[in-house]
Amino acid sequence: MKKIGVIGAGTMGNGIAQVLAQVGFNVVLSDINQESLDKGMAQIEKSFKRLIDKDKMSEEEKQQALSNIETTIELVDVKDCDMIIEAASENVEIKKNIFRELDRICDEKTILATNTSSLSITELAGVTHRPHKVIGMHFFNPVPVMKLVEVIRGMSTEEEAVNSVIELCKKLQKSPVKVEEAPGFVVNRILVPMINEAVGVMADGVAKAAEIDEAMKLGANHPIGPLALADLIGLDVCLAIMEVLYEEFADTKYRPHPLLKKYVRAGYLGRKTKKGFYEY
Ligand code: 3HC
Repeated sequence: MKKIGVIGAGTMGNGIAQVLAQVGFNVVLSDINQESLDKGMAQIEKSFKRLIDKDKMSEEEKQQALSNIETTIELVDVKDCDMIIEAASENVEIKKNIFRELDRICDEKTILATNTSSLSITELAGVTHRPHKVIGMHFFNPVPVMKLVEVIRGMSTEEEAVNSVIELCKKLQKSPVKVEEAPGFVVNRILVPMINEAVGVMADGVAKAAEIDEAMKLGANHPIGPLALADLIGLDVCLAIMEVLYEEFADTKYRPHPLLKKYVRAGYLGRKTKKGFYEY
């Protein structure tokens, strides 16, 4: 594998493109408009600057990594990639359209991976003629820092595709964990209901956002509190995950908290909109 296509230059997509480029893959980063690509590339440059400032990267290494990334607003430009990692919006119809198109333009042997945080791999695979080549490759935010990648097998995913993705994770110096398809997989099924509960604790007036976060940092040894984490992940993404868990399990324990919905409806999505539970 030499050339990898990344679909979506948002929070996850630009992080994935960055780590691929850093270890020498040629990356084709695709999004629907130039503005999203420019924002994604600016984020990558910011991340490289952070590494340079800490003497973890040289200027030459940065230039080399940047030159490994080609950007495009035409999905068809990923057609000769050896593998595709889709990291578009967490919306099943958008992802299905992308998978239909990728299936049409890419070689039949090309693995199509999705970075979905909770949607069904099997459902996405179902719109292609290669369900055995469709797999989940779930990175964590911030991608350059977080070691885990959940490697998710859909109903028809073949072992060869699983092994290729695990090999790729190792090249990226990530730690893959094999997971069977299930709503929220492992991490988000546990993590996001915890965030939802923290919103409930705040809504009940038990403590303020900063106090809840301080309590969870000191009391559960988490690196950041659940509400700060929600701002990092994106409140819209947290809500989308809760909605999938609620719908799939039909269990009220996964009901998204009304206050979480209210924040999302207000457009307070966290760091990306400069306002969520905190202001940035
Ligand atoms: N990009 C690149 N590097 C980053 C970064 C970013 N966005 N944010 C932080 N870093 C690096 C820093 O440069 C620093 O590097 P160093 O150790 O080499 O000096 C290191 O990460 C620690 O950063 P800071 O000292 O600035 O700040 P913190 O100690 O608070 O760490 C954090 C920041 C790594 C984000 C930490 O708060 C953390 O681990 N938070 C929890 C993150 C988490 O749980 N992510 C999973 C979310 S769930 C998810 O993504 C799944 C999805 O489907 C929803």
